[in-house]
Amino acid sequence: NVIDIINKLYSENDASKEELLYLLDNINEEEKNLLIEKAHETRMRTYSNKVYLRGLIELTSFCKKDCLYCGLRRSNKSAERYRLNIDEVLECVRKGDKLGYKTFVLQGGEDAYYTDDVMVEIITAIKNEFPNNALTLSLGERSYESYEKMFKAGADRYLLRHESASKKLYESIHPGEPYEVRFNCLKNLKEIGYQAGAGFMVGIPNQTNEDLANDLRFVKEFEPAMCGIGPFIPHKDTPLKDYPHGSLEKTVICLAIVRLLLPKVLLPATTALSSIDKNGRNAGLKAGGNVIMPNLSPMSVRKKYSLYNNKAYILDEDAEYRRLTEEKIKEAGFEVEITRGDNPDFRG
Ligand code: 5AD
Ligand code: SF4
Repeated sequence: NVIDIINKLYSENDASKEELLYLLDNINEEEKNLLIEKAHETRMRTYSNKVYLRGLIELTSFCKKDCLYCGLRRSNKSAERYRLNIDEVLECVRKGDKLGYKTFVLQGGEDAYYTDDVMVEIITAIKNEFPNNALTLSLGERSYESYEKMFKAGADRYLLRHESASKKLYESIHPGEPYEVRFNCLKNLKEIGYQAGAGFMVGIPNQTNEDLANDLRFVKEFEPAMCGIGPFIPHKDTPLKDYPHGSLEKTVICLAIVRLLLPKVLLPATTALSSIDKNGRNAGLKAGGNVIMPNLSPMSVRKKYSLYNNKAYILDEDAEYRRLTEEKIKEAGFEVEITRGDNPDFRG
């Protein structure tokens, strides 16, 4: 039964696909609370009540891909496109350093403007100025050589959500994009030496609990250093605009299960989670989440980086935002930690 599966997850950090599916299909309110409690205990043992902050810089809203769910997809003619240049990136990074962020994340659409040479220049400049800060990239699928060049230039981590570990569902929301390419990229990132981040959306239209069980098994087997999990949220200018967003409850259940499957994984309470519920972030932190990724992008571009509608915190001022973030984290019983916040298994 469900309680046995939760206990097994807690004591063995493992469960079969069948067990995960059974849990997702049958878990009731009381059992959900037990699952969350166990995830929280596990997080307290590995990371205590610490929360790591990552300053997120949204590098470009151009994208050559056409993911059905995303507002930046190339077919969206009403998307507002922008690119940050190296000076703008450095300005964000300096602002972030002043606010105490020890990890910067450069995230963007798949934009051919950011060639390997351009990226190496940006990465080198950031690392020269801030050698003790970690740098995470999230720029989509690139070649082995490209990942390697950027790693050698100083990038430490790479986020590339697998989005869905069910081939059929993956390919239905990524037209013309083979599932194997994605997994190959993740494998390459790990092999090169990045702390690699996988992750998935909860509540993608037509997603079943079996698909989610596949995602959870994939995460267990791939053993990423980080795992980004958030609800699907419709964007009005995409083919999936009329579907409902993924539920807070199911997202929280997935976060808790991932914390139990991988006790040391870095697990953000995502912006998407905050965007569907004002208590989303706290709910994520209480279910095993230990990372928050505040926005550091220039105010002028924040609205343009629109993956989904009703993005949370979009217009908050940084310094004020930083203070409020910390205050809210404390209210929830957690504590901000000003370190790089590496996964202990991936960097000594
Ligand atoms: N809803 C929720 N998450 C989304 N992402 C992209 N579009 C959406 C959406 N409509 C997520 C993807 C991607 C990450 C950067 O944002 O999982 O990997
Ligand atoms: Fe591009 Fe990423 Fe959006 Fe897909 S999810 S369209 S790759 S920005």
